[in-house]
Amino acid sequence: MAAARGEFSSRFGFIMAAAGSAVGLGNIWGFPTQAASNGGGAFLMVYLILAFCIAYPALMAELIIGRHAHANAVEALRSVSRGPISRMFGGATGITGLIVASFILSFYVIVSGWMMAFCLNSMLTLAGFSEAAAWLIEFSLPRNLFFMGIFMLLTVGIISRGVQSGIEKWSGRLMPMLIVTLVLLVLYVLTLEGAMEGLKVYLVPDFERAISPSLIVKALGSAFFSLSLGVGTMLVYGSYIRDDENLPLVGGMVTMIDIGIAVMAGFLIIPAMYVAQHNGVEIFTATGALISEDTLIFTVLPALFQTMGVAGVIVSIVFFFLMSIAALTSSISILEVPVSYTIENHNMGRQKAVWTIGGAVAVLSTVVLLNFSWMFGLVIEVSTRYFQPLLGLVMCVFAGWVWNRNSILQELKKGDAATESGWFWKIWPGYVRTVCPIIILVVFVNYIWA
Ligand code: PFF
Repeated sequence: MAAARGEFSSRFGFIMAAAGSAVGLGNIWGFPTQAASNGGGAFLMVYLILAFCIAYPALMAELIIGRHAHANAVEALRSVSRGPISRMFGGATGITGLIVASFILSFYVIVSGWMMAFCLNSMLTLAGFSEAAAWLIEFSLPRNLFFMGIFMLLTVGIISRGVQSGIEKWSGRLMPMLIVTLVLLVLYVLTLEGAMEGLKVYLVPDFERAISPSLIVKALGSAFFSLSLGVGTMLVYGSYIRDDENLPLVGGMVTMIDIGIAVMAGFLIIPAMYVAQHNGVEIFTATGALISEDTLIFTVLPALFQTMGVAGVIVSIVFFFLMSIAALTSSISILEVPVSYTIENHNMGRQKAVWTIGGAVAVLSTVVLLNFSWMFGLVIEVSTRYFQPLLGLVMCVFAGWVWNRNSILQELKKGDAATESGWFWKIWPGYVRTVCPIIILVVFVNYIWA
């Protein structure tokens, strides 16, 4: 085992890092586009319920296990086990988590690369180099590979610096910038013509769709993806939290920031789509469905920005810059999952571990890009819609059934001596033991049988 582990130096540092992990493409690219194509307000409603009632308790399971073990996900799940079978199962869950995390990272760096390319495109356009700029937004293998590589290098660069001067420092710088930019963009888009129609779609739920099994599975996957759950990211970040920190409180703050930003991004993207439509941009296919979810913001938003003249170019730079920042604070957290395991369990130095794993994931991304038409959507769907909630379920089982209840209490007491009489201790242990696993299972069974 490596001798010294990293630690977040302050509450602010941890919250920015964990919220930085949670807030990313999932909030600004995933959630609003899924909401737009799945019943608008209905999706929002189901998402909010699942995020607060299932994802927050699951997040707490990861944070508490991680903080207790002060170790990577594989080691942590083994250490809370009480017999050889649960130990083996814990280790296998941790390993599965880091494999799934690597798959998530493989598509994440591709999409993040597009964000950077679009940002650069607008900058070049503003500078008058529109010819060169065109290459950046054309879908081509060289462009995709190039920007994927650049984004991976940025991720590797930050993670190689470790917890305090890498993760904490950069999240603390980038997150406030992201929040301010997002608020300004929302305010601007809401003043444009057509925005109110989008607002209506976003806020008025279509109840018939809210109860469809596939919508619920999508919303659950979206909530787990958005809070970075299941694959061990939050467990690892939890392992870097100081012992005197009040976990339910900081976990609650991270959840609020994450959900708040997803909801706010909805106020930007969905009205923007309708502004685009108002300006003559096609946003629906002939069958009335929304145009391709994955690429929606890469077609609709640039088309919208184009109709806005010079102001549009500036808004475009700001928007894609914002997306790139949000993506970077998330991609570093994903890479940290396999990296922390390799450092601690295979005695490798941080530099070597980061470059080796970063390189391996870049190869995986290249394979995805070479087989884009069938692999890209499949990797996203399998890793985020199925693996994340199901691994999250296993984490709940570990916190609720496998781990000793008294140890959990002692862990929580380190940061709050009065835990035992508080609301969290009254509700959470029973809830994470029964309600969370049952609801996750019911959502899946209902989906399979429907
Ligand atoms: N939560 C991130 C987002 O919303 O974009 C994505 C993510 C980060 C997923 C970390 C999984 C993960 F482990």
